[in-house]
Amino acid sequence: MAVIEYENLGKVNQPFFDEYRKAFDTVLKSGWYILGNAVKDFEQQYASYCETRHCIGVANGLDALILSLKAFGFKAGAEIIVPSNTYIATILAIVHNQLKPVLVEPDITTYNIDAAKIEEKITPKTKGILVVHLYGKMCEMDKVTAIADKYQLKVIEDCAQSHGATYKNKKSGNWGHFGAHSFYPTKNLGAIADAGALTCNDEELKNKIAFLRNYGSTVKYYNEMVGYNSRLDEIQAAFLTVKLKQLDGINEHKRKLASLYTTGLKADFIRPVIHPEYFDVYHIYNVRHPKRNELKAYLLKNEIKTEIHYPVAPNKQKAMKGILDGIETPIAEEIHQTTLSLPISYFHTEQDIATVIEVMNKF
Ligand SMILES: Cc1ncc(COP(=O)(O)O)c(C=O)c1O
Repeated sequence: MAVIEYENLGKVNQPFFDEYRKAFDTVLKSGWYILGNAVKDFEQQYASYCETRHCIGVANGLDALILSLKAFGFKAGAEIIVPSNTYIATILAIVHNQLKPVLVEPDITTYNIDAAKIEEKITPKTKGILVVHLYGKMCEMDKVTAIADKYQLKVIEDCAQSHGATYKNKKSGNWGHFGAHSFYPTKNLGAIADAGALTCNDEELKNKIAFLRNYGSTVKYYNEMVGYNSRLDEIQAAFLTVKLKQLDGINEHKRKLASLYTTGLKADFIRPVIHPEYFDVYHIYNVRHPKRNELKAYLLKNEIKTEIHYPVAPNKQKAMKGILDGIETPIAEEIHQTTLSLPISYFHTEQDIATVIEVMNKF
C-alpha cells in the first residue's frame, strides 16, 4: 500500500502548472513587479468572488489581521474579543497592535467562538470582535454582528481557512468591517509563497489599508501616515488569479471527500457537524477521539499521515507568557487534546479516503 500523505503541494498545484507558467511570463515581460496589473486584477476578481466592494492584497494573512486592527486606530490597551481556539496568528495580530486579547471559549460542536459567551466578556474597554472561521466552517455571524451593533464594536473575520464558505448564504469575508485572508500555500486558495488580502465594503477603510500596506503612501514619495511594506507580490497575484477560477472546484472536491468521511467513519470518531445554514469548505477535516495520540500512531503505522490543528492552545504557548497568564480555556484544551486532522487535500482521490476510512474503522 502506498503512503497516503497529509499534504503534497506539488501535486495540488500540478493541474495549474501550464497556466502558472504563462502568468509568470506575462508578469516577467511586463517589467512592472510591485503593485501592478496582476495585483489589481486579482483584487477585483477576489472582491467579486467574496461579493464585497473591495479587496486589497497584502503580504500574508498575519499582516492582513495586523493592518485591519491598525486601520481603526484603537488606543493601546483596548480589548479585542477573540476565540480561545485558534491559530496563534489571530492572537499575535492583537498583541502586535498593543491591544489586549480577551479569550472566548468555542462551541464544542462547531469549534468556533460561542456567540452566547461573547456578551459576558464585553467591558467599557472592548473595541472589537475578531472571529475565526476555523477549519472552513463559518461562525454564527448574524449573532456576532448583532452583538457588535449593540455595543458599537468593530468586527474582523479571520478567513484564512474559509475561502468560499458561507453562512446563511452570505460569503466569508463579507460580514464584518474586514475579512482577513491568508493565501499560505496549504489554504484552499493557496499561492506558492506567502500572500494575503483584506476584503471590505467601506471605501474609507479600503483607502486606509491601501496607504498602510505601502509606506503610508499612494503617491510615490508622499507619505500621509506611518505605514508598512506589506504588498501582495505581482507574481503571486497572477498565480492566485489562475487558481481562483478553480476555487469552487477545489471546495467541491474537499466537500465530496468530507462527505465520504462523514458517512463512512464509525461513530467512535466525533465528526464535524453538518447544518443546512452552513456551506463548509473543509480546509481541515478533523475528528475527535479520546485516544487521539494512539490513533495518530496507528494510522502512521498503516502509512496514513495526519496532522493536529492544534496541539497547544494559544494561552498555553510559551510566547503568551505575561500576556495570557492565568486564563483557563478548558473547552479549547479539550479540542487540542483530542482533535486529529485527516487527509483531505485537492490531490487526494476518493479511493485514498476509502482506504483511510477502512483503516480507521479497524481502530
Ligand atoms: C486561522 C489563521 N489565521 C491566520 C493565519 C496566518 O496566515 P499567514 O500564514 O498567511 O500569515 C493562518 C495561517 O497560517 C490561520 O490558519
